[in-house]
Parts: sequence; structure tokens; C-alpha cells
Amino acid sequence: MKLSQTSFSKTLKKHKLCPVCTIRRLQSAAGVHVEGVGFENGAAPTPPMGWSSWNLFGRNVNERVILETAKAIKAAHLDELGYVYVNVDDCWMASVRDAEGRLQSDPVTFPSGIKALAKEVNALGLKLGLYTSNGTETCEDLPSSLYHERTDAETFADWGIEYFKYDFCHNKPIPTAGPELRAVSLSRPGTDEIVLEAAKAELRGTAEVLTDDRLSGDGAYVAGLDSGNGAVIFYDVEVPEAGDYTLTLHLRKWGYFRKYAEVEVDAKDIYPVTIPPTRGGSHDGKAHVTVTLPAGKVNIRVRNPVGSFADSAAKQYRAMGLELQRAAKLTAEKEGREPKPICFSICEWGLNRPWKWGATAGNLWRTTPDIRPTWASVLSIYERNVLLSKYAGPGHWNDPDMLEVGNGNLTDNENTAHFSLWCMMAAPLILGNDVRTFLLPDGRPDLSNKTLRIIANKQAISINQDPLGKQCVRIKAGLCDVLIKPLANKELAVCLFNKTTAPKEAAFSLAQIANRGDVDLPKSDRYTVYDVWENTTFVSNGEIGEKVAGRSVKLYRIKAMA
Ligand code: GLA
Repeated sequence: MKLSQTSFSKTLKKHKLCPVCTIRRLQSAAGVHVEGVGFENGAAPTPPMGWSSWNLFGRNVNERVILETAKAIKAAHLDELGYVYVNVDDCWMASVRDAEGRLQSDPVTFPSGIKALAKEVNALGLKLGLYTSNGTETCEDLPSSLYHERTDAETFADWGIEYFKYDFCHNKPIPTAGPELRAVSLSRPGTDEIVLEAAKAELRGTAEVLTDDRLSGDGAYVAGLDSGNGAVIFYDVEVPEAGDYTLTLHLRKWGYFRKYAEVEVDAKDIYPVTIPPTRGGSHDGKAHVTVTLPAGKVNIRVRNPVGSFADSAAKQYRAMGLELQRAAKLTAEKEGREPKPICFSICEWGLNRPWKWGATAGNLWRTTPDIRPTWASVLSIYERNVLLSKYAGPGHWNDPDMLEVGNGNLTDNENTAHFSLWCMMAAPLILGNDVRTFLLPDGRPDLSNKTLRIIANKQAISINQDPLGKQCVRIKAGLCDVLIKPLANKELAVCLFNKTTAPKEAAFSLAQIANRGDVDLPKSDRYTVYDVWENTTFVSNGEIGEKVAGRSVKLYRIKAMA
């Protein structure tokens, strides 16, 4: 239904709504973006640790298995090692939103609702995580959060969610096409409308004045505002009083596809505007956005800076990240407690080089397609992720996907190698196996369980969780890789990784890292070398040579002796 200006005003009057606030509520995603600023929410000073439902349960997830898993994590004392997130992946949601447009849990598989589940998980001292997609549907075609960012972030914060994975299925990229702009006007009840003609503004790049005699007035408009190539800037606009204004973009309608614009005030507050496709019935169009202005002179720039799929993905993930931070803060204020930060996991599979922009949008970003419980998958993911060391650091991590340790036909050696590599790469340690199998019938942990012994190795975990927050660097590549990971307290982790099926001699020498500025291991005649998987210590002069079993690793922590 098309809402005419009068019926829009009538609706506002009937519901006692002010037009500016209403448009503000209807604005998609975050009303105001701040670009290029690091995403800091304090949620992941070291790589997050926990468990996720996807690798084990896939679509067949329900509240019973989530609670059983949470209880098993507790009973196996995995929480004490840092595994605190219990993440429900895809398929927790009903296929329709509720009457208020909020996501709701599947009434058959999660009948108690997510808020109740979060409470039960919290009562165990654990944190609940949830999933949707940065698309119109999830990868399993269920309702998702694109265009619902604010509502969904508020819902998750209200439910007490502390980890949020945001996938990329059914994504709709932000268009690179920009508006064709006739004028910008500013209005606020009680003040005179300010009209700024685009043709008289400063034009940058490809922006140019054209005329179309089918348009009202003189027919002048500015084209060429696409893909970050052109801009219209209105300098020194006199704003009579500080406050919220309805900013109208007066448009020449064009193209049977969506367009996108950003209104930027004083080069800092950015207001996104989506412009619908046109049927071309009439030629003059408009788009509204609420802007908050200070009194006095302001500069207003209009353009579409999106030039690529990567720009689009970065903006959409940033928008959700900002909404999660906002919602966490609002909920805390409402409940009179400290905010619970929501660890934000970006899952766009490395398509748009998220390592380049991920730290401005969230806490971690997938770098690869989905992991499978096979050696080939673990190896190919490692080969890509190991190259991205420089992008990881406290608060922001490369995510080579959840662990498959204990799944499929991975052997003990392969599982050990997989876990060690993820520890060395400062990867999130999100378990994907059935942790209920870690328990004996009497409910105590089964300490002979091979998978449990791997994922509960405190020394391996301490390499992953080291406060310096460095991802390992590969200093030798081949059939047998050598990886080093600088640690706090002037220590160093070293991993010899044999990729082949046959055992191989491998060596590490401190001479290989003599000139590296990123390693702070004091020079000494003698070093203590702790072998993580053998749980033995030996003294070395800085040369280590070992036979490494096929598809396996040797993992060491090295420290100079006084
Ligand atoms: C994508 C993600 C997976 C998982 C599924 C759920 O494939 O990459 O990790 O979340 O969707 O449908």
C-alpha cells in the first residue's frame, strides 16, 4: 500500500508519534555509522572458547541437547579451562517472526524460549550464543537479521545472549548505484524549511549537473554519485537550532534497482539511505532520513561510497556490530547492571577479505569455507589461515572455523595436530563434538577419553590463550612446517607440523629466528623446552631435532634459562 503524505500524517497523529522519531525508528540498521573505528567491546581479549551445535547436530538441534551439552561442559570441568560459550547455531528460530516483528524460537524444538534457556545456561556459569545471517534468511532458509538489525540486536540483548555468529547466506549487497540528486532539504517543526539545491553545491569526482525536462522546476539534477566516485557537498549550511531534523533527499528517479546513499554530517556522522527501484510512473522522488544537527554551520556530503562487495559486507557487518554494542548497553541500563558484551563472530567465509576490515566490525571473522571432519579440510583451512597472522591481535581474531576434534574419522594424531594448529593460530576454540561422551555413566569425566585429553590440555590451551595475543608465523613451509608463536614473559611456542602420512625428521633452530623483531626470547646458552603432548621438559642449546609422526605435530614452549 502506498502511504500518501496526508495519510502518513494522519497515522502519526492517531498514534501520537512525532514524524522525526518515526522516521528514526524506521531507519534501517544503525541510524548513525562511525566508519574506520576499531570494534572494541572487551568480549575477546584472548580467542573465545566454547562449543557450537552445528558440527554435531546441524539442523537437528533442540533445547534438550543444548542443556545436556551445557551440563556436560560443566561436569567435565571444561568451563574451568575457558570453554564458556554454548552456541546455538542455525535452526533455533521459528519460520516466522512474532506479531511485533521479533525473532522467536522454534515452538516445537525450543518451546521454553531462548530467554529461559539463557537463564539455565547462565545458572551453570556458562554463556549462551546465538546465530542468524547477514541476509534475508539463514543458510537453512529461516528468518534472518538483514534489515532487522536493531530489533534483533535488542532481542538478543534482552534474552541475555553473549555470543552472536552472523552468517552470510541470502545476503543482499548494498547497491553501488547512487542517487540522482536534485536537492536536500532540512525540516523541523517550528523552524523554516532549508532547501539546498544540488546543482549549486560543490561537486566532486564524477558528479555532474544534468537536466531532465520531465522533472519539476528547472529539471536540474546531479548524477555520477555511484561507487565512491562522486560527491555533492553543501558547505556552511546554517542550522537555526540543535536537534533532530528530517533530511529529505529530493531525487530524480532512475533504474529498476535499489540505490544507496550516505548523508555525512561534518565528516563524522553517517546516515545510510536506501532508495527503492522505480517503475518510472513519475520522475520526482524523495527519501527521508532523520539527522541530528548542532546549531550553527554544518557541512553535509551526499554520495554512495560503496564500490565493491567488500565495501558492502564491511558496512553491513559494522552496522550489526554497532547495534549489538548499543543493545547490550541499553539492556544493561534497563536492568541496572553492568553491560554483558556480545562477542561478535563474523561468518562470511573469507569471501571479501574480512581480515582487512573485520577488526572495525567484530571480534572474529571466518577466513575460509566450512570445515569438515576430514584431514583434507583441516589442512586446506590451515594453509589459508596460517598466512593471515598479521591481522590477529587481542580483541580481534582470524577464525578458521569451529573444531572438528573428535568428529568423523580423524585419527588421534590428526586430532592432536588440528587442535595444536588452532592453538598456534590463536584461533577461537569452539568445540564441535559431542561433549556428553566425555562423561562416565556416574557423571564424572572420563579421563581416558582421547578427545577430552586433547581439548583439555592446559598447556596447549595456554599457548592459544596467551595474553600477548599473537597468531603464529610460519618460518618454514614444506611437507613439514615450522611455526613460531611469541608468548608473554619472553617465551616462545614452536610447532613442528608434519603434513605427510609418513614420519619425518624435523628441526628448529634459534638461528632461524635470530633477526626477527617480533620474537623476544633472551639469548642464552641453555633453554628449557617443554614438550606439550609428551608432558616432559628437556634442556636445549637452541637446536631441536625430532622425528614427527605422520599427520602430527610436536608442540613446545621454550624459555631461556638464567
Ligand atoms: C554456514 C556456516 C556454518 C553454519 C551453517 C548453518 O554454512 O558457515 O558454520 O553456521 O551455515 O546453516
